[in-house]
Amino acid sequence: MCRFEINGGKHLCGEIRTQGSKNSVLPIMAATLLTDKECIIHNCPDISDVASALEILDGLGCRTQYANGTAVICAADADNCKIPRVLMKKMRSSVMFLGPMLARKKEAAICRPGGCRLGERPIDIHIDSFKKLGAEIYEDGEFINCRIDKVLSNDITLLYPSVGATENIMLLCAAGNAEVKIINSAREPEIVDLQNFLNKMGADIRGAGTDTIRICPRCKLCGCEYRVMPDRIVAATYGCAVAMCGGNVFLKEAEAEHLRVFVAVLRRLGCDVTTYDDGMRVSSDKKILCIPSLKTLPYPGFPTDIQPVLTSVLTVANGCSKINETIFDSRFGFTDELMRMGADIQKDGCSVLIKGVGSLNGAEVAAADLRGGAALVSAGLAAEGRTIVKGVEYLDRGYENIEAVLSGVGADIRRI
Ligand code: EPZ
Repeated sequence: MCRFEINGGKHLCGEIRTQGSKNSVLPIMAATLLTDKECIIHNCPDISDVASALEILDGLGCRTQYANGTAVICAADADNCKIPRVLMKKMRSSVMFLGPMLARKKEAAICRPGGCRLGERPIDIHIDSFKKLGAEIYEDGEFINCRIDKVLSNDITLLYPSVGATENIMLLCAAGNAEVKIINSAREPEIVDLQNFLNKMGADIRGAGTDTIRICPRCKLCGCEYRVMPDRIVAATYGCAVAMCGGNVFLKEAEAEHLRVFVAVLRRLGCDVTTYDDGMRVSSDKKILCIPSLKTLPYPGFPTDIQPVLTSVLTVANGCSKINETIFDSRFGFTDELMRMGADIQKDGCSVLIKGVGSLNGAEVAAADLRGGAALVSAGLAAEGRTIVKGVEYLDRGYENIEAVLSGVGADIRRI
């Protein structure tokens, strides 16, 4: 098992190119099942979740290739409609294959997906919506078996604007001949990216980015070539690392429009942030101000995926901060590890009270999920002395070559 060894205390200066978005590319890869023609996906990040998605597509019978950030996928011979348990358990996004498999083969079998343990992560909104669209679903042990004759026209009102459920409905219906409206849909930029990809394949979907999405009938989709949007969470992670370590970094291709609330938070912390058409510059003198109260919220609110790295920054702020996690009920596991580095954090259900301690000390800590792992790496970069971060495989799920990226701007971090 690999670990990161970090010698903290270095300022970060230079330029980081923002990788393609994990949460965008995974449903886009699933969408390639909707056509027999070849799809070419550029800016596809070199991360283990993409490797897992390629493995799922291979197992379903697709022809796949990946090189230099481009995935080429052709589903012409994709005849299987069951994903093995071991692949389902590798990541939450495996559930995104349900919609396109059902659309393609009229039947599909999956078991409950794995993914980061952030609390209970049910898929009831996906299942209920599919039933309203005409699917018959029954559970057989751990497997969920689905069948559909044809997708029915319907208005689907989500009880919660679930990102995954919104995407799965779009994927089930994009190539169908029904008219479907998703009301109270998620508004995340990744939903807009999926809409753009599906429309480039020939679908007729409108409204992504708002709370109502309309999917109009379209029977046949074709192949296309597409460039995935930049990863806003990765850009924010590096922005937080700069805030905490001090320095000046240009986050090339970071889309400020997708990060409005995060940019406001960085400025509130005392950082200088300048946004440009092709990226944003973050500079920090390491004098971090506290944030008295902040809540995570669905887009355009403050993203839950940035909460862990922000919590890490606030451990060294001047004063007390409170963060309330409203999306997941167990997303503060990493704070126990931060406390081993000298942080002062009190957990109270879905909130944490963080008393800024000025500086952290190096320690041996273990990542137990992707963004919690990123929070520990940021803390290690800013801490005095040597930090060992175990559980690197979690970071590899979503960060492309993180140690090389950070070394490139002056961090002392290596994989051992
Ligand atoms: C997506 O997860 C992202 N993952 C997550 O990023 C992100 O944290 C999350 O959206 C919220 O922004 C991908 O896009 C691959 P949800 P998803 O369905 O689709 C509850 C990362 O670190 N819920 O919007 O799973 C659920 O339990 C990951 O990159 C139900 O109750 O998020 C959660 O509390 C982590 N029933 C809330 O809704 C359902 O059927 C939000 O989930 C579905 C969801």
